[in-house]
Amino acid sequence: MEFRSSIVHAVTLVGFAVFFMLQRKAAAALTPCKFPAIFNFGDSNSDTGGLSAAFGQAPPPNGETFFHSPAGRYSDGRLVIDFIAKSLGLPYLSAYLDSVGSNFSHGTNFATAGSTIRPQNTTLQQSGFSPISLNVQFYEFNDFHRRSQIFRSQGGVFLGLLPEEEHFSRALYTFDIGQNDLTAGYFLNMSTDEVRAYVPDALDQFKTIIKSVHDQGGRYFWVHNTGPVGCLPYVMDRLLIKASQVDGVGCASPFNEVAQFFNLRLKQAVAELRQELPLAAITYVDVYSVKYDLISHAKEHGFRYPLKACCGHGGKYNYNTHVGCGGKIKVGGKEILLGKSCKDPMVRINWDGVHYTEAANKWVFDRIVDGSYSDPPIPLKMACYRDL
Ligand SMILES: *[C@@H]1O[C@H](CO)[C@@H](O)[C@H](O)[C@H]1NC(C)=O
Ligand SMILES: *[C@@H]1O[C@H](CO)[C@@H](O)[C@H](O)[C@H]1NC(C)=O
Ligand SMILES: *[C@@H]1O[C@H](CO)[C@@H](O)[C@H](O)[C@H]1NC(C)=O
Repeated sequence: MEFRSSIVHAVTLVGFAVFFMLQRKAAAALTPCKFPAIFNFGDSNSDTGGLSAAFGQAPPPNGETFFHSPAGRYSDGRLVIDFIAKSLGLPYLSAYLDSVGSNFSHGTNFATAGSTIRPQNTTLQQSGFSPISLNVQFYEFNDFHRRSQIFRSQGGVFLGLLPEEEHFSRALYTFDIGQNDLTAGYFLNMSTDEVRAYVPDALDQFKTIIKSVHDQGGRYFWVHNTGPVGCLPYVMDRLLIKASQVDGVGCASPFNEVAQFFNLRLKQAVAELRQELPLAAITYVDVYSVKYDLISHAKEHGFRYPLKACCGHGGKYNYNTHVGCGGKIKVGGKEILLGKSCKDPMVRINWDGVHYTEAANKWVFDRIVDGSYSDPPIPLKMACYRDL
């Protein structure tokens, strides 16, 4: 009691604000967050089966390393979101669109490969971009939130398949989206200036979605920025690049510069959201720097051929737009697998020209988990705190 009253005395001198800050600091240092669920929004970087369920399976050899068969992921194994779930002691996320064998009791994945923040005015057939843009993912989340509770109240099997209501306010909400918004413009032959011009609109829409999730009780947000898209074969192969636009690593600078521009604006958008939502903890994670470090120092990190797809067919990057990973051609009535996997995915970074290998995803996860690439510098297990 005496100790406590002397603290109170000191506090009166220094001010209550500081006291509360210190108290929060002490609490943060002591208690990791216990996230009971993860709700993920994004594109192929975190799709665990959404596009596969609705638009056709990611074919073998996807999944070969870890799942030993296709598992709805564009990789030989697990994605960063899988390592996030595992490290939080939660099961791998079922895709919301996957009606077979899914278990949503500890989270749901709304991401689909090819998703953008801004709804596209083209079909998947025309452009390769998913109709499940971020606003649609939010409609799905909204529907899931409401109806999961109606079904849980019926008891029985639903109790073991759907999350408790209180999970929605205690869950970690993860976001990894934006890469396809950038490539969408380029694939429509827009100039870099035209692509940059719609980035603010994309981020306004992103902010609206975070606020809508917050309106439904979401408080803890973990936001990945977008990676160095100019280092990926599908961009370098498809878009004309002048020699003067290639950096020392071999990546296409204009596309990486646009990605960095997007990231700068995303970071600002997150800072604005923190102001507008004082109850929310929003962590911005610089995945770009980790991926660029991995690609530009591949050898030092134990990897090989950073710009070449492991699974693919032909060309400078072992990538062919027409014959992707798992792609087959018919020769004299016989099907031949052209998009084959390499022998050593464990030491390769790029899986199929667009996505990363399990080994690379694990490497990225290991660097972001402790908060060294986060703003504020908050580790994953502390992401329910606004600051430490
Ligand atoms: C799609 O069309 C609508 C209506 O014209 C427009 O507001 C929107 O910006 C377009 N979206 C994209 C990604 O171009
Ligand atoms: C769903 O997953 C949770 C966590 O892994 C488990 O406890 C529960 O039994 C599963 N539900 C069913 C119906 O299998
Ligand atoms: C973009 O330009 C290329 C080359 O000029 C052309 O073949 C392609 O049809 C154009 N794409 C669109 C969507 O306009």
